[in-house]
Amino acid sequence: MKVLVIGTGYVGLNTGVALAYLGHKVTCLDVDERKIKMLQDCKAPIYEPHLDTMLELACPNIQYTTNYDEADIAITDVVFISVGTPSLMDGSANLEYVRQAAHSVGSRLNDHFTVVVNKSTVPIGSGHWVSAIVRDAYIESHGHKPDGNYAIASNPEFLRQGSALADTFYPDRIVVGASDARAIDVLTNLYRPLLNQDFAAPDCLPRPEGMGAVPVVTCDLASAELIKYAANSFLALKISYINEIAALSDKVGADINQVARGIGLDSRIGPRFLNPGIGWGGSCFGKDTAALVATAKEYNLEMPIVAAARDVNYRLRDTVVENLQAELKILKGRTVTLLGLAFKPNTDDLRDAPSIDIAKKLIQRGAKVRAHDPVAIENMKRQYPELEIEYFQDANEAVSDCDAVVLVTEWPEYRKLDWKALKSRIAVLDGRYFLNLG
Ligand code: UGA
Repeated sequence: MKVLVIGTGYVGLNTGVALAYLGHKVTCLDVDERKIKMLQDCKAPIYEPHLDTMLELACPNIQYTTNYDEADIAITDVVFISVGTPSLMDGSANLEYVRQAAHSVGSRLNDHFTVVVNKSTVPIGSGHWVSAIVRDAYIESHGHKPDGNYAIASNPEFLRQGSALADTFYPDRIVVGASDARAIDVLTNLYRPLLNQDFAAPDCLPRPEGMGAVPVVTCDLASAELIKYAANSFLALKISYINEIAALSDKVGADINQVARGIGLDSRIGPRFLNPGIGWGGSCFGKDTAALVATAKEYNLEMPIVAAARDVNYRLRDTVVENLQAELKILKGRTVTLLGLAFKPNTDDLRDAPSIDIAKKLIQRGAKVRAHDPVAIENMKRQYPELEIEYFQDANEAVSDCDAVVLVTEWPEYRKLDWKALKSRIAVLDGRYFLNLG
């Protein structure tokens, strides 16, 4: 099939590359010329495991452009809108990029039937809003109403940064929401190789053992949109729940890793997303939980559980600094090393990363902050030039001659440091219960 993906962030790029690998003809469009130039040179503009290899493998079926007129929208079967939807001050999503994309698509549609898919995480109800924009743009450019030549669908994405391609090829489920049955048919055909799991797995991303056919959930637009928010909020509150238990566990002298294991082995609960520590960050959980609470408010509903999950999460960033102060007594003039800056391992993404808040709070209290991260230092320097942090390329150097170390991101290489020796000399705070320090 012929596919256009608008927006080459994590979601768009991984989707485009995976669909091209599966044999579809894909165009990826982004307004960011630097990104498109890199992609045209087969270079990944973001750090994501296996993306470089997959860009090469997808090469015969994929092209990149900044220009809508080069995207052949009039003969495209599926257009994915996967542009950014950053948060506004009130927690609601800024939909300006979605609007621009929908308008550009609508004005270029023709007689060929095209499914316009919202893949960005958009507020509930956005499907109808996008449909209206596409329709108005079509009328504006063609001078008459569209005649059943397009349909809107919602196809939320559940991939995680750091394992984005594996999640795309081997999803737990695919959700397709639309009111037009033709849209559901087109999208199930597009995803057929993923649903049947009958494609040849790339060497770098072998199919997980025992992986069978993937269930597809077909539903209406609003349900598909809500599934995305409800899934992310549930995962976020699962993490906040284990962190609440971790606080009590510390007080009563229990081992939270064993507690989490003991809970997670109950198949009704499940072991995943019960890793305790300094909580979630990233571009999704914070934004989506805030958006869910904001949407509920529009309907005069409160969401106290989701709101509490947020409170618990963001309080953890203060708790780290308070615990450090309790240990060192005085923070002023102390040198504190943060190990890990990215919001999670295997990514260089700093959005809503706990490291930023922790660094700010420490600096405010007069501490000298050092930091190491295997891949995120350049992003940190560029995005937060105002933060006075001394950066180290070598984790061993970063932890020598300091008063305290905080493990912020559980990069596996940090396990190799001599923690026993460090612990005998300085304060060590394992922000991810990762080191088994006893
Ligand atoms: C999350 C969801 O997991 C994806 O399903 C979803 O598609 C994505 O948001 C999105 O909406 O785009 P992501 O934010 O990339 O994915 O990463 P996660 O692996 O979910 O981690 C989020 C945060 O939770 C990280 O800061 C991580 O350190 C933290 N976390 C995760 C924990 O603190 N404990 C855990 O047990 C798991």
